[in-house]
Amino acid sequence: MNTWGVRLSPFARNTVLICSLIVIASGFAWMVLGWLVDVQDYTDPLHTLRHRMLVLHGITAYVLVWMAGRLSSLHQQGNWRAHRNRGNGLLLTAVLALLAVSGLCLYYPPHEDWRETISQLHQGLGIALALMLPLHLLAARALRRISSRPDNAR
Ligand code: HEM
Ligand code: HEM
Repeated sequence: MNTWGVRLSPFARNTVLICSLIVIASGFAWMVLGWLVDVQDYTDPLHTLRHRMLVLHGITAYVLVWMAGRLSSLHQQGNWRAHRNRGNGLLLTAVLALLAVSGLCLYYPPHEDWRETISQLHQGLGIALALMLPLHLLAARALRRISSRPDNAR
């Protein structure tokens, strides 16, 4: 079995999940710190912490995009062709792609006035990813249970 194949090895699965967790947690931390920080007071240590969270987020987000690329040929295309977890997988892939595009637009907004809207959209998609990833794992577990039944070859 290929490590990054149709079925992920425990190493590949854990790598994807840990990286996703850091991206999601740092994004949420940035949001929560935004409610707590005094925006006028630049001596507030929470400002520095919030900035560090964003740096961590930006770096790990790049790694996650790279991992999604690594999953693409065998995991995504292989399971798609085998009709396994299609709806959920497609939605997860679409959300990741939109996150990558909106993330890029945060670096280079097409118009400065649009940045706030793009930021809200990106945050909404981030929350969607945080909800969809556990659903993907639950669906994967259910599929494994079904295929391990002796009366089911698939
Ligand atoms: C069209 C897109 C996709 C399809 C059709 C798909 C399908 C599947 C299927 C069928 C499984 C269960 C494999 C098994 O029997 O063990 C699975 C597991 C998994 N998928 Fe996907 N997937 C897609 C995209 C993605 C993406 C974009 C990610 C993450 C960035 C992802 C992460 C995972 C992980 C971590 C597991 C392992 C779950 C576990 O072992 O408990 N998948 N996927
Ligand atoms: C593949 C997934 C993702 C990618 C590629 C991505 C990329 C980015 C990038 C490039 C930035 C701009 C960083 C900067 O201005 O220094 C950003 C900001 C941000 N991201 Fe993500 N991100 C992803 C997932 C998420 C998730 C899951 C959340 C969860 C909530 C999230 C929440 C945020 C927040 C709150 C910001 C700050 C927004 C702002 O500056 O106005 N992102 N992201």
